Amino acid sequence: MRPLIVGNWKMNGTLALVAEHAAALTAAASALAVDLAVCPPFPLIAPFAAQLGRESPVRLGGQDCHPEAQGAHTGDVAAEMLREVGASLVILGHSERRQDHGESDALIRAKVGAARRAGLTPIVCVGEKEAEREAGRAEEVVGGQLAGSLPDDFAGVIAYEPVWAIGTGRTPTGEDIAAMHRFLRKTLAARFGAARAGAIPLLYGGSVKPANAVEILKTAEVDGVLVGGASLVSDDFLAIARAALLARFAPSG
Ligand code: PGA
Repeated sequence: MRPLIVGNWKMNGTLALVAEHAAALTAAASALAVDLAVCPPFPLIAPFAAQLGRESPVRLGGQDCHPEAQGAHTGDVAAEMLREVGASLVILGHSERRQDHGESDALIRAKVGAARRAGLTPIVCVGEKEAEREAGRAEEVVGGQLAGSLPDDFAGVIAYEPVWAIGTGRTPTGEDIAAMHRFLRKTLAARFGAARAGAIPLLYGGSVKPANAVEILKTAEVDGVLVGGASLVSDDFLAIARAALLARFAPSG
């Protein structure tokens, strides 16, 4: 599968940044044999889509959605609304949502259903906390999140983001990433069958930078990356996208 490189802007960005990134990504995207996506804050999706234009290969996504299609839910956004303004993806269950908003696996599973009904590709995030890894419980925690967050008809993307690697500049070893991604693939295959599991892109996220992107992207079972901080600098984001191509020719780790 083509590498999938997703930028998660979190609660950052301005209209000026949108204009700059739309121009830079449009200029680079057609020459790059990778799938590029950006998930900006909700108010920036529509202007981003307008700047990219209808034919752009660059995809847009939201960072969350509500499980219902509409209703009395002040401050929330429905998957259909994201779709209407130009998103085709949505990040769900990011650890910052689980932490800041107390999101449970059951809620995330409901949101995945809403995303699918609206025609959005969900990117479901899983990952252990540092104490859980130190206690040797990383696979148990991630396995539990997978079991609880994915509906039986799941189709979409999984992002493995160890919580302790997000925004810290620390990353797991290549071996640890490979081991967790093998575990993800095996767990998905046990539930959905090998063919369906094999078609689910598995992203790594957590302190991905231009300097470590080739190493991470050449890791077995890593189909792409979810990039936070470095995605806010268009040169860095594009350097990471180019790293996905270099990684193809590097011996796999
Ligand atoms: P980071 O964030 O790249 O800034 O570590 C990744 C994420 O939270 O998706």
